[in-house]
Amino acid sequence: MILGVDFMNDNWKGNSNGGFYPQQDVKRTYTPEEAGHERRRRPVSRYRRRRRRPPNPGVILITLIFAVVFGVCIYLLVSGRNKPDQDLLSSGLETTENAQGENAAGKENLEQILTLSEEDIHTGELILVNYAYPYTFPAEAEAEITPVTTLKNDKYYVRDNTSKLRSSTIEKFNILTEAYFAATGFSSMQVNSGYRSYQEQVDLYADYAATNGEEYAKAYVANPGYSEHHTGLAMDLNVYVPGEGTYYVESYEPCAWFRENCEDYGFILRYPEEKVYITGINYESWHYRYVGTPHARIMEERDLCLEEYIDFLKSYTYEGTRLLYNQEAGTSAPLGPEETFDNGILIYYVEAEKGDTQCKIPAGCTYTVSGNNVDGFIITAQKKAS
Ligand code: DAL
Ligand code: ZN
Repeated sequence: MILGVDFMNDNWKGNSNGGFYPQQDVKRTYTPEEAGHERRRRPVSRYRRRRRRPPNPGVILITLIFAVVFGVCIYLLVSGRNKPDQDLLSSGLETTENAQGENAAGKENLEQILTLSEEDIHTGELILVNYAYPYTFPAEAEAEITPVTTLKNDKYYVRDNTSKLRSSTIEKFNILTEAYFAATGFSSMQVNSGYRSYQEQVDLYADYAATNGEEYAKAYVANPGYSEHHTGLAMDLNVYVPGEGTYYVESYEPCAWFRENCEDYGFILRYPEEKVYITGINYESWHYRYVGTPHARIMEERDLCLEEYIDFLKSYTYEGTRLLYNQEAGTSAPLGPEETFDNGILIYYVEAEKGDTQCKIPAGCTYTVSGNNVDGFIITAQKKAS
């Protein structure tokens, strides 16, 4: 506006092709300084003769205020868009590949409905594989089977360089062994046996039976198709001390930290001595299984083996009482249907239906879904950080 007045004061008339065109001439009185300055000027074109004033401080201030307000608006818009992803990353929980997340109205404050297929029952970290529930070798889990040496850290050994596990299991074991090393300076744990194909289990069973008899093989080796080693979630561990030899994890004193803390990292001793009558497998002090957090911790807290835990969770449902894990206390407790879920980790079971199953996820949560390989799904949900 001020520029426009200045422009008009030059009595300039634009051309008739749409240029700036003042409607009337305006007379102006110059100050002595301005007049003197004008007099000293060399003649220039009409356009250049337009008088240039020093920038008006008011204009500068208003422009600056506009620029700052505009910048703040852009920042808020961009950071708001990124927030959900950041929450997902920081929570440590994420959706499983097989769960088709669907937000009812595209709004975070509404509960989500997942559609899960019958095949999804057989995937996830909490699948129960034992004498009664065979492994189905889902394609996406098989695709994750990776040589341990390609992903491992330097805090443990692998007896056989061809040993494999799921890549996610290797990553979780890396975290556990890093923590173990940080706490004790010990890095001599060794993966003795990891993933096994169906045929490898056939061969192993035959070897055991031939060497030790059928009864012995049955007690320690699962039937082909019914072994946790097919899943890439289980491994046999021992201790390897170069120059000395190998030891059992259970009897080697420096392994005490590992035995006592592995649950905090999602690993369980799968075949405890006092649960043989449930697991159907003799005590195996070497066989560890990844089931995820906080499930391993809750199993330890409640003294449940995986068969018992899968059964125990069936009492906790979305509409009824749910199980709430308190990370600070390291304990779990029922959460009544009328009680609100604000903090902690919520766990509940969803029974599978024929065909697809619709499964509800509380509002504003990150979550994991795992099939139980029996008859349904286990949801583990946590509120996104605000
Ligand atoms: N040793 C365990 C039970 C297996 O063969 O899967
Ligand atoms: Zn094993």
